[in-house]
Amino acid sequence: MDKYKIIVTGANGQLGFDMVEHLKNRGHLVYGYGRQELDITNHKQVNDIIHDIRPEVVVHCGAYTKVDQAEAEPEQAYLVNGYGTRNVAVAAEVINAKLVYLSTDYVFNGVAEAPYDEFEKIEPINVYGRSKRMGECFVERLHSKHFIVRTSWVYGEHGSNFVKTMIKLGLEKKSVSVVNDQIGCPTYTKDLAESIGRLFITNKYGTYHISNAGHCSWYEFAEAVFRITGIETELVPVTSEQFVRPAKRPKYSVFNHMALKLNGFPMLRHWEDGLNDFLQTSVLNGKYGDAPNNNAIFSHGS
Ligand SMILES: NC(=O)c1ccc[n+]([C@@H]2O[C@H](COP(=O)([O-])OP(=O)(O)OC[C@H]3O[C@@H](n4cnc5c(N)ncnc54)[C@H](OP(=O)(O)O)[C@@H]3O)[C@@H](O)[C@H]2O)c1
Repeated sequence: MDKYKIIVTGANGQLGFDMVEHLKNRGHLVYGYGRQELDITNHKQVNDIIHDIRPEVVVHCGAYTKVDQAEAEPEQAYLVNGYGTRNVAVAAEVINAKLVYLSTDYVFNGVAEAPYDEFEKIEPINVYGRSKRMGECFVERLHSKHFIVRTSWVYGEHGSNFVKTMIKLGLEKKSVSVVNDQIGCPTYTKDLAESIGRLFITNKYGTYHISNAGHCSWYEFAEAVFRITGIETELVPVTSEQFVRPAKRPKYSVFNHMALKLNGFPMLRHWEDGLNDFLQTSVLNGKYGDAPNNNAIFSHGS
């Protein structure tokens, strides 16, 4: 397999961290930059670094990801996810590097009743979704060799996420309430990184929906976390109306992975298999720092 020189933005984030690790393990020459070293809103810095390193591929994971906070500071979300992405796209285009841009299921309005394929109508219902769509538009218009990867409900070892929050709450509280009327596709960072690694070595450019297979509600996701870890807490299903948050969420954002299928790429494994793997390797091995020691973890085995 060809070895590439690759820049990864947002390298300290959930996906960025595992992306760098995966690419290094595959023998690529990887330059992973966190926000401190490469702030994508800094036009000059983006140009200087990309022109200096001259990578063959840029995997752009850096993003403003605070969905609720984006409602209060929309300009910051548009600056990072929109103009920051433009900066990366323009610099990558000038040096002829391929570009992978990470986007989101939140570009959809969530009123569909069947899984969203890559050509469904785009209609984001919150600021974060609009800002990520703005990034997609810049990539589509300004970069000629790109992959737009829409993913969803991401969790991994590095950074905060739903799975870690559930473990923490489950160990601390007798009862945990989780919404049961938002349906989506959980995605394990390691599975996503592997799939992205298969894309950019081809020239099958375009938009891809990439998540683990299957779907669930947040309640069902939490239920699986507690079942696999053996945490015994009461899990209470609630509606989105009972659990109001600053940003509206799409109620149904299940992916149809049509582009992967039609272009001959493998599907990802089922979300419960990915979750089981994550919990076994990260939590059981004690790598997961935030969880207090508690013999509830895996007391029921799995
Ligand atoms: N998490 C999800 O459930 C989810 C769902 C759908 C799509 N996505 C997309 O998937 C990608 C990866 O998400 P993730 O979960 O890995 O997010 P994450 O853990 O929040 O990581 C994003 C990283 O981007 C960095 N960043 C923020 N502003 C930046 C800037 N101006 N310049 C450079 N880097 C900057 C952040 O650094 P600081 O921490 O220092 O701010 C952070 O390390 C993102 O594009 C996201 O929109 C995520």
